[in-house]
Amino acid sequence: MTRPRKLAAGNWKMNGTAKAALAEVAALSAAHPDPKVDLLICPPATLIAQMNWAKKTHPLALGGQDCHAKTHGAHTGDIAAAMLADAGATYVILGHSERRADHHETDADVRAKAIAAEAAGLISVICIGETLTEREAGTTLTVVGTQLDRSVPDIATPENCVIAYEPVWAIGTGKVPTTAQIAEVHGFIRERLTARFGAAAEGFRILYGGSVKGTNAAEIFAVDDVDGALVGGASLTTADFSPIITALENA
Ligand code: 13P
Repeated sequence: MTRPRKLAAGNWKMNGTAKAALAEVAALSAAHPDPKVDLLICPPATLIAQMNWAKKTHPLALGGQDCHAKTHGAHTGDIAAAMLADAGATYVILGHSERRADHHETDADVRAKAIAAEAAGLISVICIGETLTEREAGTTLTVVGTQLDRSVPDIATPENCVIAYEPVWAIGTGKVPTTAQIAEVHGFIRERLTARFGAAAEGFRILYGGSVKGTNAAEIFAVDDVDGALVGGASLTTADFSPIITALENA
């Protein structure tokens, strides 16, 4: 099985209001009119519908940053997967380490959300990654393997699921694992997916996330089994995101 198109994904986290977001859609579309990789921005949910209208025919995909596992009901402040799809999202980030930490999300929660996302026609970007304490204790592969097994549902396919390896200690810190460390974890994730899903595992996109910048992107994208990036801070402006997209196109 051949690998699908690579994916450059931006996670805006809790940043952005309409005026700047619409300017970003215009700038990103102009800088990459015909991208050779898939492009995704996951803005705050309040911006998805407006950005969806603004992108018109450009193949920029939009995604949520979380969804609820239920389809509707008395869950104040939460958003159902179908609501994200209704606003124009085609992806949703699930199990980001900030949600696991801030909202105590478990692997079982993430798995239930991924099943809900699939039912709404969304592609899940399921995040996994070790803390610094876990890396220093030598338990990285055990932690990542367990999160992968438990967070990814049995219904996962390369079409409805993307894996993002985000070492917690690399997020927003400017610290990046060595290429050997990235290769070890991405290779391990591919093996683990193969053990579970067979030959289809080759089709899953495995993104790296954590302090990806224009200056380190090419080196990271040259690593085996890195099929793209999930970018936080450097996805907020086209000036910072564009070199990362170009590096992925050239990888
Ligand atoms: P930074 O790129 O800001 O380190 O964030 C990574 C991240 O958490 C993407 O989901």
